[in-house]
Amino acid sequence: MPKHEQAIGVFDSGLGGISVLREIQRLLPAEHLIYVADSAHAPYGAKTSDYIRARSKQVADFLLEQQVKVLVVACNTATVHAVHYLRETLRIPVVGIEPAVKPAARLTQTGVIGVLATQQTVNSPRLQHLIRDHANHVRVITQACPGLVEHVEAGDFRSEAVRQLLKHYTLPLLDAGVDTLVLGCTHYPFLTEALHEVTHGRMTVLETSTPVTHQLMRVLDQQDLRRTENGQGSVRFFSSKADAQHLISMQTLWQHPIALGL
Ligand code: SIN
Repeated sequence: MPKHEQAIGVFDSGLGGISVLREIQRLLPAEHLIYVADSAHAPYGAKTSDYIRARSKQVADFLLEQQVKVLVVACNTATVHAVHYLRETLRIPVVGIEPAVKPAARLTQTGVIGVLATQQTVNSPRLQHLIRDHANHVRVITQACPGLVEHVEAGDFRSEAVRQLLKHYTLPLLDAGVDTLVLGCTHYPFLTEALHEVTHGRMTVLETSTPVTHQLMRVLDQQDLRRTENGQGSVRFFSSKADAQHLISMQTLWQHPIALGL
C-alpha cells in the first residue's frame, strides 16, 4: 500500500483523545484513522513515568503493526513522559500535544492563568519549561485534578459528583483572579459544559485539539504523507478494556456506533 494511503494512529490513556480524533476527522476527512484507548491502564496521570513510557511504547508498537504512517499522542500525560522516547525509538513521525499555555498568556486580561491537568503533567519539567518559556510575564496556577479522568472514562460528564469536583478545582482559581483556563488533559474538554456551569462562564477555556491537528497537517505535508483521494476515510477503534459500559462511553463521545477492533 502506498505510504500516504496508510492510516493515522491516535492513542490516549483512554477515551479523552477522542476529543482530538474528532478534530482530526473534521479537518482531515479523507484520512483513515485508527484510535487506541488504553483504558484498562487509565488514568496514566497517577502512574510512574516508567510505567507511562512502557505503556505508550506498547500501544505505539501495536499501532505500527497496523501500519500507521504517523502517530498522534493524544494524551498530555503520555506526551510529557514518553514523546521524546517514542521519537527516538519509532521509525514514523510522532506528534505530541501541548497545553495551550502560550495562547492563554497572550489572552489573559487579569494576568493570571490556570492550568488543569493530571498530577503527572503538573509535576513534569516539560510543563514547567513551557510556562517558563511562554508565560513568565503572567502568574500561572497549576491544578492537578485527580478523579476527573475516571468520570469521563465512566461516561459521566455532568453528574453532581463531577460538578462538585470541578467546583473544588476551579473556584479557588477564580478567587485568585484566573480569567483564562487551560485544559491540560484531553479528557477535560468533555467536561467543558459542566465547567462553564459551575464557574458561570467567568473563565475563557482553552483546549488543544485544533492546534495539534494543525501540527499533524504540517507533518503530513512536510513528509508528503497526506491522503490525496477524495471521500471519507475509515475510522477503527481498539481498546485494552473491553466491556459493554466502556463501549457505550466510547460511542457517546464519538457520537457514532463503534465496533471495537479487538
Ligand atoms: C490520564 O490518563 O491520567 C489522562 C491523560 C491526559 O493527560 O490527557
